[in-house]
Amino acid sequence: TDHYAVFGNPVAHSQSPRIHALFARQSGQDMRYEAILAPLDGFEQSVRGFITAGGCGANVTVPFKEAAFRLATQLTTRAKAAGAVNTLIFAEDAIVGDNTDGAGLVRDMQTNLGFSIIGKRVLLLGAGGAARGVVLPLLHEEPGSLVIANRSAGKAMKLVDSFTDDAHGILSCSEFSTLAGQSFDLVINATSAGLANAELPLPDGIFAPGCLAYEMLYGRETAFMRRAALAGARVADGLGMLVEQAAEAFYVWRGVRPDTVPVLRELRGA
Ligand code: ATR
Repeated sequence: TDHYAVFGNPVAHSQSPRIHALFARQSGQDMRYEAILAPLDGFEQSVRGFITAGGCGANVTVPFKEAAFRLATQLTTRAKAAGAVNTLIFAEDAIVGDNTDGAGLVRDMQTNLGFSIIGKRVLLLGAGGAARGVVLPLLHEEPGSLVIANRSAGKAMKLVDSFTDDAHGILSCSEFSTLAGQSFDLVINATSAGLANAELPLPDGIFAPGCLAYEMLYGRETAFMRRAALAGARVADGLGMLVEQAAEAFYVWRGVRPDTVPVLRELRGA
């Protein structure tokens, strides 16, 4: 039996053990996956203990994704771009850091939601870790434009600057207030405002007809989701992204791509 785990703090609420158990059963993989609560100042020690005990790989969640980035001795291109690691692979003489979050977001949109990003006007709200993690995978889908807007405009500007080489002129930044008069086919909320039940000061009209409004949080209806629904947008939460980033990690570890449809259905309680 191969051992995997998710490291977080807190971690008791994590859906990952359930998701990976469903993937393993479905694909007949002989593996075990547990949640490990790492002390806030003891992430590295906790991971090293798991490696010593024979762990094959791990997921990393809040607040350790940057610590995992530093711990890795090798990084994939998408982990480098994200500046964070959510998936670790323990090899003979290396700790490989990967990031499957952005791939999970893109796959959820394309496969589960049937939404194609190519040529679309895309607005990404937020400039923290969650936003950074999805920029490169979004650019790879060749949107018509990608605007990053953030409460602190300087942070959005920095984020845009760090991707100019990959962006071929389609990436720009904006403040919330200067979004007035613009509209988008896809609006992604990568801020953590929903966790605090906070409202984003978004101007009316950013949701173009037929727009998809994507909230990266899950498990609650946020003010962003209510606002978007009122504006006539199609609304999605981040549960599909959660399942798809897990599927991508499972694929990296096991070389098998699980069927996410029944897993997502089970998580939604349908
Ligand atoms: P995460 O890893 O979830 O991205 P983070 O790196 O702390 O967490 O980033 C949080 C993001 O949510 C930031 O873009 C933050 O905006 P600021 O950079 O201006 O702080 C955004 N955010 C959080 N609460 C917000 C609120 N009430 N209104 C607008 N933006 C908010």
